[in-house]
Amino acid sequence: MKPLHELISLSGKTALITGAASGIGKATAFRFAEAGADLYLVDINEEGLNLVRERIREKFNVNVETFRIDLSKKPEIDLLWEQLKGREPDILVNNAGVYWFKDFLEVDEAFYRKVMAINLDSVFWMCQHFVRRRKERGGVVINVSSIEAFLPFAKGLVHYDASKLGVVALTRAIAREYGKRIRANVVVPGGIETEGVKRLKKEAIMKFDMEKIAISFNFNARLPMGRFGDPDEVARVILFLASDLASYVNGAIIPVDGGFLST
Ligand SMILES: NC(=O)c1ccc[n+]([C@@H]2O[C@H](COP(=O)([O-])OP(=O)(O)OC[C@H]3O[C@@H](n4cnc5c(N)ncnc54)[C@H](O)[C@@H]3O)[C@@H](O)[C@H]2O)c1
Repeated sequence: MKPLHELISLSGKTALITGAASGIGKATAFRFAEAGADLYLVDINEEGLNLVRERIREKFNVNVETFRIDLSKKPEIDLLWEQLKGREPDILVNNAGVYWFKDFLEVDEAFYRKVMAINLDSVFWMCQHFVRRRKERGGVVINVSSIEAFLPFAKGLVHYDASKLGVVALTRAIAREYGKRIRANVVVPGGIETEGVKRLKKEAIMKFDMEKIAISFNFNARLPMGRFGDPDEVARVILFLASDLASYVNGAIIPVDGGFLST
């Protein structure tokens, strides 16, 4: 039986994390580095990426490479994997996502396509590249969905909810088809106090957006744990899934939501 410290170690592994410049992705990058993984960090925000890379290098003795990619553009995704030829990651975390609010009746095609391109299509193409290159050697995929996919709560997120349930179906289908070598699981966060969520809360207060403030209040009221989560509390679950601690976990949907979906 392997000892615990070996099971949780990612030493000798390389992990690619999208949306690593902020929030859950950034927290995951730090935990993976602590567990010994070399990192490919992907984001559209180059400045944020550089900052994360420098902080990780100061703290941990791992290799960190950053890639400024717009994940809504498939050619950029293809180019990224071209660059990684022969040094593909062992672990893929598709975390980047946007939760832009827009009334269902005001969503036009361009907006819809953009949200789908970032939240769902990019996960599809990233997984396809990964599975193509790792289906013999094996690997681990963790995709990030949302409680909104299962329990639409906030108004103005119909497009988002559809994209995030797509992520669940995609992940489970991969787990089913490639389970012999690839483990694929979904993490379902909810109410995590990330940079993105803090920005939203601030905007709602600055604009006196009473509807959003009320949603936030109702959200808190039905949250069993009575508090928002810290990005690191999601990162720790992603680390568990990436590691051999979760060697028999495949096709699972894991909420990290303080119990929100149970109410
Ligand atoms: N925070 C929450 O409460 C919560 C709840 C449910 C689901 N999620 C999901 O978790 C994931 C991370 O959320 P977060 O709160 O940490 O968000 P965040 O806004 O703090 O960070 C998201 C990162 O994705 C990057 N990104 C956005 N568009 C991109 C693009 N086109 N190409 C490359 N990178 C891009 C951003 O630059 C940013 O660094 C998202 O998929 C989100 O939908 C978050």
